[in-house]
Amino acid sequence: MESQLEALKQSFCEELGQARTTDDLEPMRVKYLGRKGLLTSILRQMGSISAEERPRMGALSNALKTFMEEAFASKTGELELSSGPAGIDVTLPGRALRKGGIHIINSVIRELEDIFLGLGFTVASGPEVEDDYHNFQALNIPEHHPARDMQDTFYFQQGILLRTHTSPVQIRVMEKSGPPVRIIAPGRVYRCDSDVSHTPMFHQIEGLWVEEGITFAHLKGVLYEFIHRLFGKDVVLRFRPSFFSFTEPSAEVDISCIMCGGKGCRVCKGSGWMEILGCGMVDPEVYKYVNIDPETVTGFAFGLGIERIAMLKYGVGDIRMYFENDLRFLAQFA
Ligand code: PHE
Repeated sequence: MESQLEALKQSFCEELGQARTTDDLEPMRVKYLGRKGLLTSILRQMGSISAEERPRMGALSNALKTFMEEAFASKTGELELSSGPAGIDVTLPGRALRKGGIHIINSVIRELEDIFLGLGFTVASGPEVEDDYHNFQALNIPEHHPARDMQDTFYFQQGILLRTHTSPVQIRVMEKSGPPVRIIAPGRVYRCDSDVSHTPMFHQIEGLWVEEGITFAHLKGVLYEFIHRLFGKDVVLRFRPSFFSFTEPSAEVDISCIMCGGKGCRVCKGSGWMEILGCGMVDPEVYKYVNIDPETVTGFAFGLGIERIAMLKYGVGDIRMYFENDLRFLAQFA
């Protein structure tokens, strides 16, 4: 009987070594440990062996049983890890970690900041949840001006709103420190508007330079330098008279189309020009709100849309793509 147990153990070990999947194990368990299995059939001979031999044979068969059960358990664990029900193939290469990148809007903001830092500007910021006073009143936008219309502005309770432009930062900066002031202020702005060329949230960058002796020529000089550093030296600027409550005189600036060089194409709708920013000399009325004497200093301000700049630089057709978080879009600029 002892040699039978020994032979059983050996064939068990061989067979177990050949098992490839957990499906191979169950028939083996039945064959060796089942009620009508090989071990049971050996144990049936227990009655025919001598009384002295019996305890030793009992101990040997119990030890074999425990051995086989433990071997099954560890083999099962092993096979489940490599080819078990979860279907994990441990030979597959691991998944690569995807690297994040800077959002195209933030990278354009950084590029603009670099240019203006090089021109002696510093970067300022202000709150996105603004009050009526800073967003409108102190910018000389009177009570019943259409810009305050509910259709454009997101309002909270009376007098609190989401800023509709970055111009309130002009007021906040001048309130805090008198001239000379030479800042840019990039950030989010909000207007109740949504289609291919408008999203309810977008980005602007504001510029403000207030100091003794600043003229429209300084404004033109700074904007020329800025556009040339951004789009190249061949780009031409065109100043068109315009109106903003907080600048006088005011202008809108077009640049010669950076796609066709001014010949006229689909992007500039055949005109050869692209509208790019609003600007002007700070209206003396605005200085009154921030306690600056308009007789001692002059200054200029400008504001432009970041999405529009990114659109021109990278040929993005639909402004909504910036904010849909589609990795296939974002990864192109990361
Ligand atoms: N705030 C204006 C706008 O949103 C742009 C602007 C800024 C115009 C500064 C003049 C001076 O349209």
